[in-house]
Amino acid sequence: METIQEKEQITAMPRIGDEAPKFQAVTTQGNINFPDDYAGKWVILFSHPADFTPVCTSEFITFAHLEEKFDNANCKLVGLSIDGLYSHIAWLRTIREKIEFNGMKNVEVKFPLIEDITMEVAKKYGMIQPNESKTQAVRAVFFIDPSGIVRAIIYYPLSLGRNFDEIYRALIAMQTADEFDVATPADWYPGDDVIVSPAGSCGVAEERMTTTDDLDCKDWFFCTKKLDKNTVLDKILKK
Ligand code: BEZ
Repeated sequence: METIQEKEQITAMPRIGDEAPKFQAVTTQGNINFPDDYAGKWVILFSHPADFTPVCTSEFITFAHLEEKFDNANCKLVGLSIDGLYSHIAWLRTIREKIEFNGMKNVEVKFPLIEDITMEVAKKYGMIQPNESKTQAVRAVFFIDPSGIVRAIIYYPLSLGRNFDEIYRALIAMQTADEFDVATPADWYPGDDVIVSPAGSCGVAEERMTTTDDLDCKDWFFCTKKLDKNTVLDKILKK
C-alpha cells in the first residue's frame, strides 16, 4: 500500500507555464543536467514505456530519423524509460543493426536516452500514470522552451504510437507565436493565415470591422492575417 507521500510524488506533474523540474541523469550520451544543459534551446523530453517493445521501437526510429529536422529548429531531443543504461545501449544497437520500419533502416539514435530505474525523473514529470501502468512510463512529451519553461504537454497511452509530424508542427507553431506575437488556428502549418491578438477595447473592435486593410475579420473577435511561409521559416530554421 502506497503512503500518501508516495502517491503525491507519483501523481505530481509539471503544468504548462511551470519551470521544468530539474534533475541530473545518466544517459546513453553521458550525464546530463536538465534543463540547464539546454539553456537557449528548445528541448523535447519524452518518455516511452520500455526498451525492446514494438511501438517504442517504431517511435525511436521515427524520432531519430527526424532529429536533424528538430535540430534545425533549435530543438534537442531527450528520451527516457524506466530501464537501465545497458538495456538502452543494447536496444539502440539492435535498432541500428536489425530493424527497418516504414522504409527507415540503419538508424542511429544520437540523442540521449535517460536511464531511470529509480523512476526519479518519471515521477517528477508525472510520466507514471498508475492506472495505466505502475511500472512503465506512459508516452509523455514535454516541450520546454529556451528559458526552461514547460510550454506544451502531450500524453498518450502505452498502446498508441505518437505522431511526430504533429510534434514538429506544435514546436514550429509555438516558435511562430513567440516570434510574431500571433496565435495559430486549428491545423495550422507555416504559410497558413495566423490569428492576431483579440481586440482589447470597443474602439479596436469597431476598427477591426471597418478598416480591414491587412486583416481578415470573420467577426470583431476573430481576425487573421497573412504570414508568408518563408518569413516564418527564415526566422525559425537555421538553414
Ligand atoms: C510497445 O512499445 O510496443 C508497448 C509497450 C508497452 C505496452 C504496450 C506496447
